Amino acid sequence: MDETRQRIQLVRLLYVSRAVGPQTTAVTDSILSVAQSANRQRGITGVLCQGQGLYLQVLEGERGVINALYNRITQDRRHQDVQLLLLEEISQRRYADWAMAHVLLADDDPMVQLHHPEFDPYSAPGASVLKMVADLVAKGERIRKTSV
Ligand SMILES: Cc1cc2nc3c(=O)[nH]c(=O)nc-3n(C[C@H](O)[C@H](O)[C@H](O)COP(=O)(O)O)c2cc1C
Repeated sequence: MDETRQRIQLVRLLYVSRAVGPQTTAVTDSILSVAQSANRQRGITGVLCQGQGLYLQVLEGERGVINALYNRITQDRRHQDVQLLLLEEISQRRYADWAMAHVLLADDDPMVQLHHPEFDPYSAPGASVLKMVADLVAKGERIRKTSV
């Protein structure tokens, strides 16, 4: 996506939420199958991490579009306690190729336990949580990508 020459205000947003009901891959798949095609149409990219009863989602795109989506997401009854962790203006996307990558965060994820023993996204600085998501994605395990 060549957005550098256009006057588009790009933002990256990170939030955390708690799943309502059992957090199975099937439930998340049904959320994502709709989300991914909508994201493609709206130029939204990012990552959805799922695990330990939590969702962590990074959304990247045009500011107004991301605001509108975030507002819809906060109303979604499939999760609760939606908390905004970070909103930053960006010049480049980090997940430009993914309409929404899906990362599974296992309950006993060694990455989370060893490197982030105090991991609680509700109290951690947003930048640290964003880095943890980036680390998980970079590690490349348990990722299911749907490209743009
Ligand atoms: C954890 C979670 C992540 C979601 N991610 C997206 C997403 O990336 N893109 C999207 O269009 N909808 C996403 N949704 C669905 C939206 O909440 C909403 O259902 C969808 O945008 C349709 O909204 P509408 O029914 O008001 O048109 C997500 C929902 C949940 C629970």
